[in-house]
Order: sequence, then structure tokens, then C-alpha cells
Amino acid sequence: PPPGWAIEADVVVVGSGVAGLTTALRCAAAGRRTVIVTKARLDAGSTRWAQGGIAAALGEGDTPGQHLDDTLVAGAGLCDEEAVRTLVTEGPGAVRRLIDAGARFDTSAETGEIALTREGGHHRRRIAHAGGDATGAEISRALVAAVRGASIETVENALVLDLLKDAGGRAAGVSLHVMGEGRHDGVGAVHAPAVVLATGGMGQVFSATTNPAVSTGDGVALALRAGAEVSDLEFVQFHPTVLYLGPGSEGQQPLVSEAVRGEGAHLVDADGVRFMAGRHELAELAPRDIVAKGIMRRMRELGADHMYLDARHFGARMWEERFPTILAACRAHGIDPVTEPIPVSPAAHYASGGVRTDLAGRTTVPGLYACGEVACTGVHGANRLASNSLLEGLVFAERIAADITGSPARVPEPPVPAGERRSVPLLPPEARSAIQHAMTAGAGVLRSAESLARAAAELDGLAAAAADPVSGKSAEPGVEAWETTNLHLVARVLVAAALRRTETRGCHWREDHPDRDDASWRRHLVAALSPADG
Ligand code: SIN
Repeated sequence: PPPGWAIEADVVVVGSGVAGLTTALRCAAAGRRTVIVTKARLDAGSTRWAQGGIAAALGEGDTPGQHLDDTLVAGAGLCDEEAVRTLVTEGPGAVRRLIDAGARFDTSAETGEIALTREGGHHRRRIAHAGGDATGAEISRALVAAVRGASIETVENALVLDLLKDAGGRAAGVSLHVMGEGRHDGVGAVHAPAVVLATGGMGQVFSATTNPAVSTGDGVALALRAGAEVSDLEFVQFHPTVLYLGPGSEGQQPLVSEAVRGEGAHLVDADGVRFMAGRHELAELAPRDIVAKGIMRRMRELGADHMYLDARHFGARMWEERFPTILAACRAHGIDPVTEPIPVSPAAHYASGGVRTDLAGRTTVPGLYACGEVACTGVHGANRLASNSLLEGLVFAERIAADITGSPARVPEPPVPAGERRSVPLLPPEARSAIQHAMTAGAGVLRSAESLARAAAELDGLAAAAADPVSGKSAEPGVEAWETTNLHLVARVLVAAALRRTETRGCHWREDHPDRDDASWRRHLVAALSPADG
């Protein structure tokens, strides 16, 4: 339908995690009319769920060069070294500016300096944290407060639908569906010559994930429909230690931060055997993909559906002071980590790939930027290093804002009317759980040509049903149907990439191609929809 209302702006930022809020604050500070649109409330994205922290070379003796080395090793040969160098070099300053903006990090009682912990793949204590294990919540609190105090218009409960383009093919804004926000209700648009996607991840494409319900791949789907390139979608990171809530648990699952292992917790099987010892020099603190694989292998050897994380030796006081969020989540599910090992298993956690950008966050569509988890800047390669994601959001938000505000504000061209753009058959909300089950079964931690082909066939079947006017399954427009359609599109592109990559690398684990194949596959898979694609 044609937009019922429109807001005019210089910049529209879609999403309100660390990436979106930071970009918006910088653009507004430079005098640009900035609008944030976000699918739920300002603080509802993935950022506020981040526990472990934010990685930066802040500690004595640490250097950006060492942070670079650890990031490249974790990325399993596919990081873009220039992007990583940018991240680790600009990271410490970006964290200090975050502190200046009001974020309060934990400090060491002895030195008064920022307290730093370790996580998988880091050879040094390099992870700053807040509230013990509530780092994302504190960053979100500080940035939301700053946005509320700035001259930034916000539209909440706004699901982004599509990119608007002008006659020259440049971004000209976004169309939106807004629910219950007074004067901006129903379908409308923000017209702006700079559009920043900061919509987060796509964890809801799987049936069990650490991601909140809002992480439905909306930004990647929008970018694909707009003709932008995406890259590395096959590299879905599964977090090794997610609280195991029993067979068939679905939706957002409680995370047990890597920082618990960073402070000395051990992974054990039901007999108390430390199975990561001897599998990697860093044992439980190996990069995340290696620990997730170690857990899965042990589960298969023993026919078990979970392993355990043992941190009883921390004692009650350390648990209460250092990991209050995790302690409360475990106790809410009847597990007391002070007296018993925590049952854990891997679950979908982070999209290492996303919308392809350059070092200024520019996508392949002029005027369209991507920042944070939705983006593929090249810093994560085949497997993101722990706690590099909040940092990526911060550093690249600053770069995007600098790119936008570094040239005079553009006079926006009018968008091409909606009727001239591609329209996509909508999938019904009921298809969501079929997508999630197909993806978890066929494109989860362990994949093969056969499992991926099965997932692809199930996804094709859902699309065929939605496109068939006789079946009666075509969906009415609405948030649930749009989200389901987005999940379906990103799932299709992800499965196609995972099928093509006939090797095992980083978090892409192919049972039928168990080795890394640098000769054929030390390269990125880039995808874009052709105009004929849905
Ligand atoms: C965690 O706290 O384990 C999550 C850190 C991350 O995903 O980088």
C-alpha cells in the first residue's frame, strides 16, 4: 500500500542496539536531522542481552596487534585484515568515548582501572564488562539515555518493510509498518538520502537461539530485496554454553557467558571428565567454534543431549558479585550453579556474515549503510572472536557517521512509487516454526549436502505454497507475515551458501567435507538477488 504518512530526515537509522544508537548520536551531534526507527522499544534489541563484554586492547601490555592476531586466528583464514586492523586500532578510543557518553564499566578494586576478563580465543585479559555479566544492558542504558537527551526523533514499534529508492537507484528512505504509536500508525515512510541498517541478527531462523524474538533477519532481507550484496551467511556462530532446558526447547534460551569459562569454569561430561583438555592448547578457552564442536563431538560419543559447565568452585560470593544475571537465570530454571554443574548445549548465537560493506559501512547500494551484526565488514571471517561484536558496532557506527556527515547533507530525491518495485509473496505466520525446524535439522551446528538439500527442499515447499493462489495459504500483510517472509528469505540464501561451501571452516561444519580447503575455499561467497528472484 502507498505510505499513509512520511517523515523527512537527513538520516534514518533502522535499529536501536549499540550500532544504531551510536550512529544516530553521532549524526545528530553533527547537526543532521536524524530519525531512529526500531521494531520494538528502544532497548529491546540484542545489545541488552550481551553478557561477557566488549573486547579492546586496554590492559597493560596488550596491544591492538595482539588483538588482531587473536581475531585473525578465530576467523579461520577469512577475516579481511584491513577491517580487523581498523577494528582493533580504533577500538580502545571508541570504548573510552562510550565511557564519556555515560557507560559505567566494572573496575578493579586494587587499581581502579577497568577490570578485564578473558573469553575464548583471547590470549589476554581484554574484555571490559559492566554489572558483572550485564554489559549490554549497561551500554544500552547509557546510549538510550543519551538518545533521549539528544535531538533525535524515534519511532518505536516500527517494522521496516523495504528500502525506498530514487529514480537513480540511490537509497531514498524506508517504508515501515508501525503499531500503536499515535500519529505514526500503520504503513508510512521515512524519506532520507542516507539509510543505516542496524537491525541486528537473524538467530530466530533457528528453533533455539540466544537471540531475542526481534532478531528475524529483517535487515539482511531488506538489503537482498533492494539488490544489495550479502556475504558469509553460511557462518552462523553457535554459542557453546547455552543453558540446556530440556529436549525441544524453542525460542530465546538463556546464555551462560564465555566469561564464566574465562574466570575458570570447566566443561565436563556427566562423569565429570574435562573433555576439552587435550583437544586444544587453550582447552575451554579455545575459539568458540572449536569449543562448540568439542561439545557436539562429546555429546555424540556419549549419546547425550547436553554437557555441563562446572563452576561450583567459584563459591556463592563470586557467583553473586561477578555473574548475578546468569546466577538468577539458572536459579529461575531450578539449577543452582553454586552447588551443581550447569547443563549446557550449543545454540544459534551470531551471524558472522551479513550485508557486505566497505570500511565506511557502505553497502553496494548507494546511500545504504549497514552496521553491527546485520553487516559483513570482514572483521569476523568464518568465526567471530568473542566480544568483538559490541566493538564492531561502536567502531563502524563512528565511521558511518563520519562518512555521512563528512559531506554536505544531500537534498533527497523523491522515492520511486512503490508499485514500480518488486513485490514478494508473503509467507503465513504458521510457516515460521517449519522454517526454524528445517534450519535446525538441516543447517545447524553439523551440516552435510544431504541435510542442507533437505532444508532447501522444505524451504522451497513453503515458498511454493505461499505463491499458490489455489492453496489459500498466501498470507495477509502484517508484522508476523513480514517477519516470517524475511526469515524464509535469509534462510534460503544461507542454505544455498552452506551447500556451496564444500569444506569445514570456522563455524561452518560439514560432516561430508570435514577438512579446511584453503586451495578452493579461502574466499567469500557473495550473494545478491537477481531482479527475477523473490
Ligand atoms: C558471551 O558472553 O559469552 C557472549 C560474548 C559474545 O558473544 O561475544
